[in-house]
Order: sequence, then C-alpha cells, then structure tokens
Amino acid sequence: KKLSLLVCGGAGYIGSHMARMLDSYGYEVTVFDNLSTGYSKALKWGEFIKGDLRNPDDLDKALGSKKFDAVFHFSGLIVVSDSVKHPFQYYDNNVTGTLNLLQAMRNHGVNKFVFSSSAAVYGEPVMDLITESHPLAPLNPYGKTKLYVEEIIADYATAYNFNSVSFRYFNAAGAHPDGSIGEAHRPETHLIPNILLSSLDQGRKLKIFGDDYPTPDGTCVRDYIHIQDLCEAHLAAINFLETAHGAHSFNLGNGNGFSVLDVINAAGDVIGKKIPYEFEPKRDGDSPRLVADSSKAHNILNWTPRYKDLREIIETAYRWHKNPVF
Ligand code: UFG
Repeated sequence: KKLSLLVCGGAGYIGSHMARMLDSYGYEVTVFDNLSTGYSKALKWGEFIKGDLRNPDDLDKALGSKKFDAVFHFSGLIVVSDSVKHPFQYYDNNVTGTLNLLQAMRNHGVNKFVFSSSAAVYGEPVMDLITESHPLAPLNPYGKTKLYVEEIIADYATAYNFNSVSFRYFNAAGAHPDGSIGEAHRPETHLIPNILLSSLDQGRKLKIFGDDYPTPDGTCVRDYIHIQDLCEAHLAAINFLETAHGAHSFNLGNGNGFSVLDVINAAGDVIGKKIPYEFEPKRDGDSPRLVADSSKAHNILNWTPRYKDLREIIETAYRWHKNPVF
C-alpha cells in the first residue's frame, strides 16, 4: 500500500526536497505550509494545503482531509540570531505550533512523526565528534525550541503510544543535483548561499562573523551534510517507524568539520575564482564547533551519506544559484 504522508513546511528548502523525493518513491504527498518563508514555485510535488501551525483549525482541516500514515515536520523558524531578538515568535511557531500539530495528529489518529531537530540542541561542544549523548544545553531560543519539542514528543511516547524520530541536523547544504530546486532564504543568512550570492553579485559583500573562535583558524567549524543525504535518512525513518516504538533522536551529519574559511576556499575552487570577504563581529548564539558523530543513524537506520566531498556539495548548490527559480 502506498503510504500517505503530510509534509509540513514542504515549500521550504528541506521540505521541498523531501516532498520531491517522497513523490519519486511513490508515496502520496500532501504539503502543508503557510508560505511565510517557503516558495510557491517549490510546490511541484503532491497536493498543497495552505495553512498555519499557529491556527488549530487549519491543522484540523489538513489532518482531516485524508488518512495520513505519518507526518513530517519541517515548518520551523531557523534563524538563530532572530530567535535571540524575537523569542516570542520562535516559541510561538516552533513550540506552540508544534503542540497544535501534535494535537491535531492525536485527534485524527496519526501516531508517527518525523521531526526536524537541530545540532543547536547541544550548545557549547564538549565532544570533538558530537554523539546523541552529548549534554543538551542550547545556547539560544532557537535551539531551545527544538529541544523542548523533542522532550514533548518523548512524553507523548510514554502517554499516548506516539512514535517519533527527531533528526538533529547539522548544516544542511547543497541542492537537488538537477539544479531545479535549491536553498534560498529571505534574507539569506546561511554561509554557502551567501558565498555564492557574493560571487554572483559584486555588490554583495561576504562577511565572516568572528575571527577569534577557539578553532584552528579562528572561524566557526561546521559539518555540512547534503540535502539529498538528509532526505534519504527520512525515508529510512518511515521504514523504522513501521515497527519502532517511542521517541528516537539521531544526528545527521557527515562527520567532517570545515571552518568558514575552508568553505570559502572550497567554493572558490568550484567557482574558479577567489572570493573576497571581510570580518565582522560574532553573531549572537553561534557555537564555535558543531561536528557530528552519526554512527547511531548509520547503525540503526542503515544510513550513510553519499556526498562526502564539500566541493561536490557546493557544486550542486552553485548549479541552482546560477539560475535560481523562486
Ligand atoms: N557565516 C558567516 N557569514 C555568513 C553566513 C554564515 O561567517 O554570511 C558563518 C556563521 O557565523 C557560522 C557558519 O558560517 O559560523 C555557518 O552559518 P550558517 O548560518 O550557514 O549555519 P548555522 O551553523 O548558524 O546554522 C545552521 C542552521 C540552524 C542550525 C545550526 C546548527 O541554519 O538551523 O546550523 O546546526 F541550528
């Protein structure tokens, strides 16, 4: 039987790649999105229901529109520095909105949930390679919203036979290799898109936030994981939830750390020109180093990222950025 899946946030960067992959595997896809940060041009896969997580009636209609087998939840506000300035918006959308979604799922008898969490739940790194048993001490409201939802769905597992997978994404990057969908945020805050935009538009200066982090070159180190690899882990989660009970959290990363300067150099190689930059003060809430140990996802979900080379990841991003479709 073809499973029917609700993809909340399916007009966004990760959600649209997911909707496309699910559709290509023959799942019945329904996208729920308020189009606040997503793009209607990205709505090419499945049926679309416009609605907002903060409005329980919208959710009731969406969940009542057919019998869903599972819900994927990509509808998050994601800008760390905004979460520091505007905590209400982050708690309202990411926590209250998710609680509304969980309530609608209960009302409509759906008990399988795949949640987009974040490496931001860990905070200041005390492990070189972060495993899921690293202390959970988010540095900012954004990371707290992700942690609170993980805790809520763990309580739901105990009380309501509610089964979930939380994926703690490290830095999602790259685009579909055919270049037809990609990563775009308004305003753009992410490193790889900002590097590519600065190389395509001479008027846009690339800024590096902070030069005195406790890292080898003083800039922040991150683990860049290709969007298609991320989405494949979600496919594995559907199979896992066929039999698994409880709330499960998995890191999704590549296991390699690249500094901001490493990423700029790799992008320079891909584009074939040197990329100018200037240093700016640190951003609020940035962690110096976030690099994943993803062996749990490897061992339990049988997931292995295919994109190992940062240049290859940037190449897919560049293919889309040269000719972006919004
Ligand atoms: N950076 C710059 N210049 C830019 C953009 C980013 O120097 O123009 C730096 C940041 O300071 C950071 C690194 O590049 O050190 C990566 O920044 P991103 O904004 O691309 O990604 P983040 O690591 O801040 O955030 C991402 C996701 C979050 C998630 C976090 C933790 O966007 O949702 O990873 O895994 F919480």
